[in-house]
Amino acid sequence: MGNETLGQCERLWIDVRLATFDPAVAAPYGLLEKHVLAVRRGAIAAILPQDQVALSGFGGEVIDGRGGLLTPGLIDSHTHLVYGGHRTREFEQRLLGKSYREISRDGGGILATVRSTRALSREQLVAQARPRLEALIAEGVTSVEIKSGYGLTVADELKMLRAARDLAREYPVRVSTTLLAAHCVPPEFCGQADRYVEMICRELLPRVVEERLADAVDVFCEQLAFSLEQTERIFAAARQAGLGIKVHAEQLSPGGAAALAARFSARSADHLEWLDEAGVLALKAAGSVATLLPGAFYVLRESRKPPVALLRQHGVPMALATDLNPGTSPLASLRLMLNMGCVLFGLTPEEALTAVTRNAAVALGLGEVLGTLSVGKQADLLLWDIDQPARLVEELGSIRPRQRIVQGEIVHASRS
Ligand code: NIG
Ligand code: FE
Repeated sequence: MGNETLGQCERLWIDVRLATFDPAVAAPYGLLEKHVLAVRRGAIAAILPQDQVALSGFGGEVIDGRGGLLTPGLIDSHTHLVYGGHRTREFEQRLLGKSYREISRDGGGILATVRSTRALSREQLVAQARPRLEALIAEGVTSVEIKSGYGLTVADELKMLRAARDLAREYPVRVSTTLLAAHCVPPEFCGQADRYVEMICRELLPRVVEERLADAVDVFCEQLAFSLEQTERIFAAARQAGLGIKVHAEQLSPGGAAALAARFSARSADHLEWLDEAGVLALKAAGSVATLLPGAFYVLRESRKPPVALLRQHGVPMALATDLNPGTSPLASLRLMLNMGCVLFGLTPEEALTAVTRNAAVALGLGEVLGTLSVGKQADLLLWDIDQPARLVEELGSIRPRQRIVQGEIVHASRS
């Protein structure tokens, strides 16, 4: 059976261990020893025990993995990596004791980045985003989500989303885009958050849908941002437009945003430091992913941790992401998040790696397409010279993928 399939394959890897993360494979990490993986037309066409495969007569390319480990490509399912400028001064102020809330109240925070993002052209935004995206790609990211949210006018939000789509064309990486116009009330609508929400639903969202610029919609539902009622209005409009739903929930205070998002079958609820058991149960019932963002927790020197034990107990899938942004997580490393997810939040290395593969794919609505080494899924793969998957979590800086494979093709981190 297997060899007939192989006959039509373009490329296959031999002498590899596969960390499949496929729940159908009972071993930890879904590990399969001494299997071959074959690709055809950008997808995984076969995974077979090597001793059942006759290579003689195979016309495609055979890649000798030399005992390496093959994993799914890493997925960063929550970033704000398109933005202008930096907020180093705020970093210094926070180190001197000023809080994120105080800085935001004084016109800094998100609004500072809104000013510097509005000042840039689409091309300039792309140029500033490149090194951040390249850093992610170099360490193994093959899919990334990018949010808008620093434009806050129709033109500037569209500009950000177009810049994100430009990056997708330029790099060997899959980009999911998310409209986060409800990130902060812009100065033009100061004191009129409801009117701004109205503008998002009536003016901006239809444009985004018409131009297919976003795959999902997100809202920062928080005391210093948007209320539950405002969030609900945006979710209703997003659902009607057929877009996925995500939420920044329970980051700085409790409030029921995750449960609200669950009512809209959200793909994910993100941050969740203040999530309670009712919220956990709501996410479970909706099949939503709990996305944990240890970078923001760490940079803001928070002490309250997301309820990992409850999420685990109730079987809510957990994702980890960088939240890469200039204020709370200027950290362009998903590998660092693996490490922080374990050291700071208590995930196991297997949970952490599942959180940036299988569960991150679900958080992007791509669970059928990405995230595991399974026949039929897109062939986004990484080949590592390591013997145990947990080394990807433990050791930072020194381990880089030997090969990156996107849609079955071996690619390089640089621009296409
Ligand atoms: O995910 N929580 C809201 N938004 C970002 C922070 C953005 C910023 O400070 O620029 C976050 O942490
Ligand atoms: Fe965020």
